[in-house]
Amino acid sequence: MHSVKNLLVTGGCGFIGSNFVRYLLEESEFSGRIINIDKLTYAGNPENLSDIEETLPARYKFIQGDICDQDLLNHIFDAYKIDAICHFAAESHVDRSIVEPDAFIRTNIIGTFALLETAKANLARIHLFHHISTDEVFGSLPEEGFFTEETSYKPNSPYSASKASSDHLVRAYHKTYGLPITVSNCSNNYGPYQFPEKLIPLMILNAMEGKPLPVYGDGKNVRDWLYVRDHCAAIWTIMERGRRGETYNIGGKTEMENIEIVKMICDVLDNSTKRLENQSRQELITFVKDRPGHDRRYAIDFSKLTKELGWSPSESLETGLSKTIKWYIDNEEWVRHIKTGEYLSWIRQHYGSG
Ligand code: NAD
Ligand code: DAU
Repeated sequence: MHSVKNLLVTGGCGFIGSNFVRYLLEESEFSGRIINIDKLTYAGNPENLSDIEETLPARYKFIQGDICDQDLLNHIFDAYKIDAICHFAAESHVDRSIVEPDAFIRTNIIGTFALLETAKANLARIHLFHHISTDEVFGSLPEEGFFTEETSYKPNSPYSASKASSDHLVRAYHKTYGLPITVSNCSNNYGPYQFPEKLIPLMILNAMEGKPLPVYGDGKNVRDWLYVRDHCAAIWTIMERGRRGETYNIGGKTEMENIEIVKMICDVLDNSTKRLENQSRQELITFVKDRPGHDRRYAIDFSKLTKELGWSPSESLETGLSKTIKWYIDNEEWVRHIKTGEYLSWIRQHYGSG
């Protein structure tokens, strides 16, 4: 990957994509240029990278656009001589996929297909197409056991079914057309810039304000949490040294019941300067109706990535969570813009729509 000059990142204004762009430009040895195509849906916020856009204009270029737009993709691959792709762009929230699956089918399946077709048309120049996927494609685990790269796919939500479909397409373009690909299936991420519809940022912000903390069902569903910077380091490790055509699982070895995570957040905030008067935050916990088809447990075996490429996570849940809570406390303006929708007017001002 040292020879890659023009890396196309899709969905780089979202949570993981923006952390990845920052990681590559600020912490890695990558010396090329990043072209970021992002449609700027409700989840895309170019403010996440506005400092990079200002300070590193020769190394970072943002283009507002839809990955389903084949003409635009052709133009970008041509004009910017794209020689590698890291594909994050997706509709990513399970609850939304239950209510309105259409956009998930469109972006996650048709968008990935459009990107693969464009990469295929430029095959001679492409070093790598890395596809970002999720552990949710494997379905739900009982109390014991882990997902490995050999686990069969059993997606349970429209979101995970659309991601599973995109994984299959990526693999097929490798087998059929020889496109050099890698795929990573990662567990739940958390950290800076995560949109507060997902469990951890939602609970942090509600708990900071003394609002109810809605826990689905009995709160005993288990997720394996990974700090987003660790995910970014794993992706770059795979892109640099992963075997082409292979899939790698990524996880945090931090299985935890949802209710326990929510209690941890309450306790960290109660012990900070943001104390509530006469109330412990755990009293805000409210059990609500369960998510339909709610997967009970995810747990990742990432030993292939450790053995082959030497990656393992560096943050524990305690250190990662306290960094994350501190970030949301310190970044009041980002939070205010998200909550008031002001980031959408910022988009209109800078890019003309949103
Ligand atoms: P996110 O929702 O925060 O960001 C998605 C980004 O994609 C947004 O910036 C959005 O504007 C953009 N986008 C959506 N539709 C688009 C389209 N048609 N064209 C161009 N851009 C479009 O998501 P995230 O949490 O950062 O997830 C990124 C990727 O990682 C996704 O593929 C997701 O499936 C995968 N993943 C996420 C997690 C997690 O815990 N968040 C874990 C494993 C894998
Ligand atoms: O496992 C990887 C996946 O993790 C990614 O592929 C998805 O893009 C990402 O959104 C995430 O999916 P989850 O559904 O696991 O994440 P979410 O934050 O929505 O929920 C985490 C758990 O918390 C889940 O068991 C549902 C529960 N939950 C969630 C919310 C938003 C609640 O109990 N209350 C809530 O308000």
